[in-house]
Amino acid sequence: MTVLVTGGRGHVARAVVDGLLTAGQQVRVASRSPEQAVVPAGVETVRVDLADPQTLPAALDGVTKVFLYADAQGIDGFIKAAEAAGSPHIVLLSTSSLTRENAENNPIAQMHVAVESRLQASALPWTFLRPGTFATNTLQWAPAIRATGTVKAPYPQAHASAIHETDIADIAVRAFTEPGHQGQAYLLSGPESVTQQEQIECLSEATGRPIRLEEVSPEEYRATLSRWGGDNFIDQLLEYLAMWDGKPMPVCPAYTELTGKKGRTYAQWAVDHAADFRPVG
Ligand SMILES: NC(=O)c1ccc[n+]([C@@H]2O[C@H](COP(=O)([O-])OP(=O)(O)OC[C@H]3O[C@@H](n4cnc5c(N)ncnc54)[C@H](OP(=O)(O)O)[C@@H]3O)[C@@H](O)[C@H]2O)c1
Repeated sequence: MTVLVTGGRGHVARAVVDGLLTAGQQVRVASRSPEQAVVPAGVETVRVDLADPQTLPAALDGVTKVFLYADAQGIDGFIKAAEAAGSPHIVLLSTSSLTRENAENNPIAQMHVAVESRLQASALPWTFLRPGTFATNTLQWAPAIRATGTVKAPYPQAHASAIHETDIADIAVRAFTEPGHQGQAYLLSGPESVTQQEQIECLSEATGRPIRLEEVSPEEYRATLSRWGGDNFIDQLLEYLAMWDGKPMPVCPAYTELTGKKGRTYAQWAVDHAADFRPVG
């Protein structure tokens, strides 16, 4: 009755591991670099590269449930290996972007569409988690905040209903441990829409340090991003910020409907991650 959690070094996977252990489940953590995965004492780790199906049979041995990161390249090999291992229940980390207008022009949405449709056509029982913007995306600000206390970004009034990774994990744990979640897809978001300026204020409050958001033009921002993203990714990001500039992002009801609780706010996320934004030493 082991749950295999892929993407072991990812923020969501780590929260899922914690949630499953709290729920008394036996967990095996899979990562391309298991030696770098931070796991609680006594938890088994295994090397899995979803793009390399040969790494799967040993990892899936004795597994009845899998928390799966989407990888279109490896999905056919994964399905074959999982069916051979007894068809465990798959909870897929998907994305809300595949339900948006113009999803057909969004490569990230299309990658997740490909993975979802392959799972739907398989013999595997599945549940799809479709979160929107992750609160962890704002960790990209951490180096600048630690070094200068200033974030340079366009569209300070751009909104996001950013979701805490523990909220995604809460739903994954329920999908694994309660009946009724197989064949379901859940759109997930944080409990409120907050602007980039408000997120900076939450980080300032959480760290107890002044943090400033300095508005720069989209073109200036593009130049800073080109170090870590391709043109397509940067175009998508800028388009996204422009789209939600001054416009509250809708909040999805699924977390509250499924748990009976309000989701964790961005202010709570900032408190939980304050150490990431404080200068070291
Ligand atoms: N960021 C967002 O706002 C957002 C919103 C909705 C959906 N999503 C989706 O959520 C997923 C995670 O996104 P993220 O930005 O948060 O990333 P992340 O937490 O940095 O996690 C990325 C993880 O993916 C795993 N991974 C990637 N390729 C893999 C492969 N070939 N084999 C095994 N594991 C692989 C990595 O695990 P190891 O390196 O440990 O193997 C890594 O830990 C993506 O599918 C993304 O599209 C993201």
